[in-house]
Amino acid sequence: MKKIRIGIIGASGRAIIAKRWHVPHNDESEVVAAVDLADSSLADFRSWAGADAWTSKDYRELLKRPDIDAVGVFTPDRFHEEHALAVLESGKALYLEKPMSLSTEACDRILLAVRKYKVPFMMGFNLRYHPVVLAARDAILAGRIGDVKAIWVHHFVGAGGDFYYHDWHATREGVHSLLLQKASHDIDVIHWLGGAYGALAAAFGDLDYFGGERPDDLTCPTCDIRDTCREAQAPENPRQMCVFRKAVDIEDNQVVILKLANGVKASYTQCHFTPEYVRHYNVIGDKGRIEFFLERNEIWFYPRPEKDARLAEPATARRDPAERCAG
Ligand SMILES: NC(=O)c1ccc[n+]([C@@H]2O[C@H](COP(=O)([O-])OP(=O)(O)OC[C@H]3O[C@@H](n4cnc5c(N)ncnc54)[C@H](O)[C@@H]3O)[C@@H](O)[C@H]2O)c1
Repeated sequence: MKKIRIGIIGASGRAIIAKRWHVPHNDESEVVAAVDLADSSLADFRSWAGADAWTSKDYRELLKRPDIDAVGVFTPDRFHEEHALAVLESGKALYLEKPMSLSTEACDRILLAVRKYKVPFMMGFNLRYHPVVLAARDAILAGRIGDVKAIWVHHFVGAGGDFYYHDWHATREGVHSLLLQKASHDIDVIHWLGGAYGALAAAFGDLDYFGGERPDDLTCPTCDIRDTCREAQAPENPRQMCVFRKAVDIEDNQVVILKLANGVKASYTQCHFTPEYVRHYNVIGDKGRIEFFLERNEIWFYPRPEKDARLAEPATARRDPAERCAG
């Protein structure tokens, strides 16, 4: 098999996963080129890809190279459409980070280009490879909980301030909404485990904690309350904008209800100022329930008891009917 030669657009942050593709000593794949607007990100890239690795600030130069087979796009969401369309047009395989883009129309343009240029294309919905999500999917396909009827997801984004409010993630212009930027992973898993796409949806949310009246150019290192502010960022973190600045205009507390095309009812809640970081799923079928916690790599199966067991012990008294499965 020919070794795949990969280039990346966006060379720091999430591009860290490209390190896994960089296995020059075997015959599978090697990351040989990177594009980024920031010198510091290109330096990051060279630190793991090699001091002589090819770099540029112009992605068009990368796409002209005939020796590059595939491109990973790791730029902020608002650049995804431009970069994805250019990669597809160049005929190279495309790995595109989620979300696909910021509007339905932009996503349609990308999908039409995928069809037109017929190149391999993959979205960065990595939760589909998470061991507990795979275990849940296998159990559902094996019929362990019968027909899926309901899926409930609670997402406590305890690191909300660190992840989303100190940089471009905190504005509609940058992400449209954290339901797109963050929840797209979970909505994708709901669709995958539920076996259909959403047909009806309602959602609402507010900015209940972050945002405010602090100046837009205020950063943690220059802030007069940095010693006492609980959101103050560690000095080494590149994301340093004030989370209470005026420009913050996305929600931090959201609720979604969905009815999938096959009748499955789903709900998703996301809050960005919880004490801890937890993704908690329940999938309920007519023969049982699956519960899993992604960060703990923990999944539980609760079969519905047959008649005799049910009558012998009421559900409220049943102690531990669950079977734990290592993720
Ligand atoms: N799948 C996941 O779990 C996951 C996790 C984190 C981030 N992401 C996705 O990865 C993408 C990047 O997020 P991030 O947190 O790494 O962002 P980031 O801001 O930390 O890094 C983005 C990089 O892109 C570079 N860049 C910005 N604009 C550019 C342009 N026009 N051309 C070339 N380079 C440019 C920046 O200099 C920076 O090096 C986002 O779309 C995000 O949704 C996915």
